[in-house]
Amino acid sequence: MPIRVHAESQTFHLYNNEISYIVTVCAGYPVNVYFGKRVPDEESYGYLLHDTWRASSVGVSVEREACSLEHLPLECPFAGSGDMRTPMIEAVAANGSRVMDLVYQGHEVVPGKPALEGLPATYAERDDEAETLYLDLADRATGLAVRLAYTVFENYAAVARSVRIENRGAEALTLEAARSASFQLPDAGYDMIELVGSWARERSVVRNPLHPGVQGVYSLRGHSSHQFNPFIALARPEATEEAGEVYGFNLVYSGNHAMTADVDAYDTVRVMTGINPQGFSWELAPGERFQAPEVVAVYSARGLGGMSRTFHGLFGRRLARGTWRDRPRPILINNWEATYFDFDEEKLLSVARAAADLGIELFVLDDGWFTNRDDDFGGLGDWEVNTTKLPSGISGLAKRINDLGMEFGLWIEPEMVNPGTKVFEEHPEWVLHDPAQPMRPCRHQYVLDMSNPAVVDYLYDRLEKVIGSANISYIKWDMNRSLGDVFSQTRPAHEQGRVYHAFILGVYELYRRLTERFPQILFESCAGGGGRFDAGMLAFAPQAWTSDDTDAVERLKIQYGTSLAYPVSSMGSHVSAVPNHQVHRVTSLKMRADVAYFGTFGYELDATHLTPEERDEVREQVAFMKRYRELIQFGSFYRLKSPFAGNECAWMTVSEDCSEALVAYYRVLQVVNAPYRRIKLAGLDAAARYRVTEQGVAAEDADPCGRTVSGAELMQIGLDLFDHSCGQNHDGQGDFRSRLFVVERVEE
Ligand code: DGJ
Repeated sequence: MPIRVHAESQTFHLYNNEISYIVTVCAGYPVNVYFGKRVPDEESYGYLLHDTWRASSVGVSVEREACSLEHLPLECPFAGSGDMRTPMIEAVAANGSRVMDLVYQGHEVVPGKPALEGLPATYAERDDEAETLYLDLADRATGLAVRLAYTVFENYAAVARSVRIENRGAEALTLEAARSASFQLPDAGYDMIELVGSWARERSVVRNPLHPGVQGVYSLRGHSSHQFNPFIALARPEATEEAGEVYGFNLVYSGNHAMTADVDAYDTVRVMTGINPQGFSWELAPGERFQAPEVVAVYSARGLGGMSRTFHGLFGRRLARGTWRDRPRPILINNWEATYFDFDEEKLLSVARAAADLGIELFVLDDGWFTNRDDDFGGLGDWEVNTTKLPSGISGLAKRINDLGMEFGLWIEPEMVNPGTKVFEEHPEWVLHDPAQPMRPCRHQYVLDMSNPAVVDYLYDRLEKVIGSANISYIKWDMNRSLGDVFSQTRPAHEQGRVYHAFILGVYELYRRLTERFPQILFESCAGGGGRFDAGMLAFAPQAWTSDDTDAVERLKIQYGTSLAYPVSSMGSHVSAVPNHQVHRVTSLKMRADVAYFGTFGYELDATHLTPEERDEVREQVAFMKRYRELIQFGSFYRLKSPFAGNECAWMTVSEDCSEALVAYYRVLQVVNAPYRRIKLAGLDAAARYRVTEQGVAAEDADPCGRTVSGAELMQIGLDLFDHSCGQNHDGQGDFRSRLFVVERVEE
């Protein structure tokens, strides 16, 4: 039983083999005793709580003036309570009061993990995989009832938390903050790690020591954003990739978010996350309730790598779902960088024919297939095929692609609209915009009001028709602008504070309907590259386009950063043409593939332009990926060398039974007279023996002695990077070099 309840001391111990999360009730309020490595169960841990008086603190009651909520590690801090930090819950009562008293009422434990209303979340496939604790709190005066949910998983070092808020009173209440959870740690000796960036350079790893005050990440763009991923980690300063304590927090949400670490004067840290309260207010009529998104908190005693592998496993297996969750992903070719908007059926077929001949399995038709879409000034919203470009329609094209032995995939951007389309002219009220103010364009397009169910119905009808009309196996769902002038023209004044969140609920609803209608289709999410690469999206689309930057060198940082919180199987990664379209860099076809292998893999180029030598190389790459994609996409991923730390990068993936691994090493710039290098591998069976071969290098050239080595040697002494094939430490080979090693267990 992973949840132990000690009724007398009102202590709740959630645990599995790796972690413990302990909550107790103190002075009537749930407080955190401990979250970290598994500890033995005890009847009570109450002695760890110090509710003694401190100067200038506001007391919890007349009877207990010495006890202040400011100094209790509250599981659900609320406004107007004497707790002086940012509240998790803030509500305005009918009389304007923000004062409340959310007191513990009782608990319930249920097997498994019930779904969250209207929101994506992690799940348990069987009731014995997880257990869920509910703690009920209520404010007597207003009738505000709060249900804190905690799930502990049998097999993952993670706790999932969320909150449901209900108005059980007689008058309306307005929620002004409904964050998902608060996590309190007893000291602030941590570095905070964030994934930050911008368009085409998403999820750079930034690490800074915590300092007194509030620090954090957020989005006010209506999507989780290229700028700040809804993820942070707190790592002990000494924590490395494979050692030391790390906490990871990831919000399963795709809209405006905020995630903060608040260090107080007593050196405690409170991590709070959820919907960004800026621009949010949600009136709850009597009887109504509000479900806040889920946050997943991971504890790792084995460094950042341990944290990442927990996220990879949980998100890959118990957040992603459907037909494609456990299946190796098809190798695709996408026409975007090959043609942009300039194509017709014959051109597409020529690319597809060339790709089919190389063994590529799926042809994806990107932007530009619909009416009035010869550039990015028009066309979004009507979703009618352009029969001038595609005379046999999507169905005819799909059939011709299928006849080549390939699957067919299609790009859509449902949430957007361009002026000049029928939908824009007929339904101006469906556009997010305040008619009294200037319109705020971005990429010449506007955002549909997804908070309006009529818009969701319209989009479902149009897209269901298009997708259902042809043999489509894959959908790329793009979203190319942030929300700006957010005003719903069809909602009353008092509901305008709902729009950002209701927008995302509308997106989720459309995703739900389309994925349920087409369960065989593989969905890939995208938002101008990685602008909505978050756990919320993974529940609908098991993979996401990681970035619009396809340059192999840039991708090292982007994929390395993304891997902190998301599985390799979720990262869309393609080989594109050179000079690269984003940075104009020329890298070898080998290096481009060696980087793109560590993701879902595909090509984003005009295959008809490849030279005969390049075609041979691509054919080999495709065959290699088919052989190893299961290992790459579903193996255990280890980061070995950070591209943020210097000129090199390395990572590897190991099969579950440790019998096979792939190691990739990348060196960005050539170093003259370079030092000899070894790289310590990870995750292997120390006692086993392995044969290491380098891709593209004959075995006898790679190691003239044909040795096998122990897992212990590879992990402790390291893999020697001396390049026997050229007799050097592989300098002299020029810039942008990559090497790929296959590590296979041998029976001796
Ligand atoms: C942005 C995406 O990230 C690209 O891959 C491409 O689909 C374009 N949009 C099309 O407009």
